[in-house]
Amino acid sequence: MKKVLSGIQPSGQLTLGNYIGALQNFVKLQHTEVCFFMIVDLHAISVPQDPANLREQTEAVAALFIAAGIDPSKATVFVQSHVREHAELGWLFTTLANMGELERMTQFKDKSSGKESVGAGLFVYPTLMAADILLYNADLVPVGDDQKQHLELTRDLAHRFNTRFGSYFTVPEPYIPKVGARIMSLDDASKKMSKSNPNPGSFIALLDPPDVIRKKISRATTDSGREVKYDPANKPEISNLMGIYSHCANISIPEIEARYEGQGYGPFKKDLAEHVVSVLEPLQNKYHDIRNSGEIHNILKQGAERATAVASRTLADAKDLMGFLRPR
Ligand code: TYM
Repeated sequence: MKKVLSGIQPSGQLTLGNYIGALQNFVKLQHTEVCFFMIVDLHAISVPQDPANLREQTEAVAALFIAAGIDPSKATVFVQSHVREHAELGWLFTTLANMGELERMTQFKDKSSGKESVGAGLFVYPTLMAADILLYNADLVPVGDDQKQHLELTRDLAHRFNTRFGSYFTVPEPYIPKVGARIMSLDDASKKMSKSNPNPGSFIALLDPPDVIRKKISRATTDSGREVKYDPANKPEISNLMGIYSHCANISIPEIEARYEGQGYGPFKKDLAEHVVSVLEPLQNKYHDIRNSGEIHNILKQGAERATAVASRTLADAKDLMGFLRPR
């Protein structure tokens, strides 16, 4: 069995992009591997958060994990800040990283560009992410395409530690879906679908009511042609919608092409909306049940205990190797 770790930030609403790029794979991997999935609240505060909102979103994302199909008896589900070792190993890895490699991170460049003042937390964000992954000696990290560069840095930091202090950390591999690793905005296929986009028509939130989903899909931008053909370079909008279709209906891209041959975009979009609704409606019902039951707190408590048991051992070993004096 492989060890798997991933995380999602509790900032804003989760989107269909988070679901297809990451959550769906979490659910899949839990059946065969040893999985740790967390809500990364320490990462969320790398940009300012309203405290009440952060607390609400952390609980909401945990409930969405379960509603999406993560089974807490199979996978360990926890909140990053409940396991103190993340912050501590994060600092140790910050001392191993170079300014230059952190400056090259495209996520940092995007989030800091044009800003007068940029938080230091945003800059060292990837070293905390490396700590998240390496604390569990994860072999696989299921993420969307936008996290690939952070994974590369994590691999470099693991190598660096192993070379300097003795071979200890597993060098992890990204686990990225072939289609849907980068779900794009519904209004602009050159931009990633993102929960922080101020135009709510650009993304489908996992908790959008069915009629809102139908409206957003019917209004999604397409080209002026009528052929339902997968061609990301020349038909980025329709290819993006086909990626969503493929994941929500669980059929392949060539099957979609065959199904809509000669029919134009209308019937395709209408069916797509129904497939998305048929995935999200049960998830939403389950979400509300979980929120009402209050059981999420127990799940997170047990998750934090299981995660701490692993993380505390790793941190103690790493500190020994680095030469920290043990308290006696
Ligand atoms: P976050 O919270 O931005 O996104 C969570 C996951 O969703 C994926 N994703 C997408 N996939 C496809 N299309 C999209 N439009 C899309 N938008 C988001 C992301 O790639 C990610 O997998 N840094 C991470 C959180 C993190 C983490 C970790 C991940 C912290 N520590 C350790 C893995 C392992 C992030 O900001 O994800």
